[in-house]
Amino acid sequence: MFIDPEHSADLKRSIFNAIVAPRPIGWISSISQSGHVNLAPFSHFNIVSTAPPVLIFSCNSPEDRLEKDTLANVRATGEFVYNFASYELRDAVNMTSSPAPHGVDEFELAHLEKAPGVKVRPPRVAASPANLECRVLRIVEIAPVAKDDTASHVVFGRVVGVHIGDQYLDAAGRFDTVKARPLTRLGGIQYAAPGPVIELPQPFRRAAEAK
Ligand SMILES: Cc1cc2nc3c(=O)[nH]c(=O)nc-3n(C[C@H](O)[C@H](O)[C@H](O)COP(=O)(O)O)c2cc1C
Repeated sequence: MFIDPEHSADLKRSIFNAIVAPRPIGWISSISQSGHVNLAPFSHFNIVSTAPPVLIFSCNSPEDRLEKDTLANVRATGEFVYNFASYELRDAVNMTSSPAPHGVDEFELAHLEKAPGVKVRPPRVAASPANLECRVLRIVEIAPVAKDDTASHVVFGRVVGVHIGDQYLDAAGRFDTVKARPLTRLGGIQYAAPGPVIELPQPFRRAAEAK
């Protein structure tokens, strides 16, 4: 089977998403200029640079309004928080994806406690093993190509503050990803937690560099 996404609408989201998987989930909290808090998951998400620390997430166009609340908020305020989506918090993550009307606080919807940010206004998910406070660097519009496409917007955020729950620090002072158990998304409504963890030392790297 071959699909040409420039000339057909056959590359349904579910196919593309099922191929590029598992994806980490950016659980993004934001706040509107008038102070309405918002929380939603985005699996079109990743880090794109470590020095400086930069991450991205992408919002597609909703059918019922001009843009998603998250995009509107980060555009208006220039701030957001990435909250680690753990397997343990999977039901809350899913709940916060509901297309709640503007002004509905998804923290309350999912019975999540808030913790304050240090350098940004949006609150953090207190139960998340880690949170990254971010300032918007740039928002890039991905214009439609095929007939049935809609625009997407990629938000680039620079990390300006890092919170880690003490119980998720290992003996060497590093974040214990295995203990925190990230929730990842596959295609459709499939999710996964990490399977067996292995270590593969790079043969061409000196031990000191590999840390
Ligand atoms: C696990 C998961 C991942 C999602 N990833 C994305 C994504 O990458 N981009 C997107 O536009 N919507 C994504 N969604 C849907 C949004 O979370 C949903 O549209 C949400 O209502 C947006 O909220 P907002 O309008 O408050 O910003 C995802 C939903 C789930 C459950």
